[in-house]
Amino acid sequence: MIPTRVIEDKRDGAELRAEDVRSFLGAYLAGEVEEYQMAAFLMAVVFRGMTRAELNAFVEVMIHSGAVLDLADLPAPRIDKHSTGGVGDKVSLALAPLAAELGVYVPMMSGRGLGHTGGTLDKLEAIPGFRTDLGLAEFRAVLEQVGCAMMGQTREIAPLDRRLYDLRSVSGTVPCIPLIASSIMSKKLAEGLSALVLDVKVGEGAFIAEEERAQELASVMVSLGEDHGVPTTALLTAMDRPLGRAVGNGLETVEALQCLRGRGPADLRALVVELAAEMALAGEAVGTVAEGRARAEAALDEGRALSRMKRLVEAQGGDVSVVEDPRRMPRAPEVDMVVAGRAGVVTGVSPLTLGRACVAMGGGRTRLGESIDARVGFVLAVAPGTEVAEGQSLGEVHAADQEGLAWGREALREAVTVGAPGDTPAVRPLISHRVSAAGIEVWAPG
Ligand code: URA
Repeated sequence: MIPTRVIEDKRDGAELRAEDVRSFLGAYLAGEVEEYQMAAFLMAVVFRGMTRAELNAFVEVMIHSGAVLDLADLPAPRIDKHSTGGVGDKVSLALAPLAAELGVYVPMMSGRGLGHTGGTLDKLEAIPGFRTDLGLAEFRAVLEQVGCAMMGQTREIAPLDRRLYDLRSVSGTVPCIPLIASSIMSKKLAEGLSALVLDVKVGEGAFIAEEERAQELASVMVSLGEDHGVPTTALLTAMDRPLGRAVGNGLETVEALQCLRGRGPADLRALVVELAAEMALAGEAVGTVAEGRARAEAALDEGRALSRMKRLVEAQGGDVSVVEDPRRMPRAPEVDMVVAGRAGVVTGVSPLTLGRACVAMGGGRTRLGESIDARVGFVLAVAPGTEVAEGQSLGEVHAADQEGLAWGREALREAVTVGAPGDTPAVRPLISHRVSAAGIEVWAPG
């Protein structure tokens, strides 16, 4: 294998042989392909895409670049959920204990914030003491004890993805369907799962804004799961506005805890319930999605999912008193309200504007490894469709200092569009499609 030949073949649109893909990646791992050569290859993939056979070979090497967990001896199926990333997406925090409560094991390996989107690890670490840097043995012990465990991608799991991801983030090669799909699926397929449920976000606040491309991404990931013996289902969900009302790590953790108490925003609860039902169905803990939904609703309302969250927090070293009383979460020193300048109907809430502002206020990273301020962000008082009077609150800004507060106020004002009285917002359905091995269906509750 001659690296330049592989790059040129991809550039010119030829299909690479599986052995060339394997040798090229193997040589990169061995330090025999330079970073600039890999960056050129990735850019060629951005323009030329990958065939299913190329992608399977690519993912196979990524999976086996590190350890592959073997959890087959656990007494129930292992099911994980992964989101492609959005703003206000705190689903995993409520979902992991809830799905465990329904009878499946949830070995959840999550990520940190990426660009304007938040990450589950940062939200969990907003709970004082909560450790996400578990080794594989400890991860397994928590999983056995609690039914769910949550940690970050270790050096042992899919290390090639880590290297490629860092390179993609500085070479303009992130928004590319085969590269996103292989990055996500290599990590998930190394987890020793029985099945996987994906939450593919669509809209301005997601990495893929257009529905058709999001469907393609979902289909590619579902095929990769199936080709590797892990039945995979994806829901396409709305990211044309933030999910729930809180944006910002600690504030989102509080909202997830509210959801676990059977309270909190309706859209968050509906999505958490639906994903839990899909996970339970995939793990054969229920016979139908409807049964899964009913059991999930009951586990939230009866406080059983919250009790399991307490066990998880305790097992991973976190301060359980925060779960009991979320008011004990560290709070930003500067909190202020933004009000509507006129009466009307909220026709839009821009997730991208709020996500970017949150990063600028210290709630996300602009450089690798940077520490973040989990206290900052927004708590919205409105969503698309809310009628507001002049002077009514649009939401709160939580900031570390006066400067952050000023940015946050400006961003919140810009993010919320108030139309004329009687206007109807054009928003995506919370869940629009379900993608499985059987194909793409328009989602319908039932
Ligand atoms: N999440 C990942 O893990 N990888 C991507 O490429 C995009 C989102």
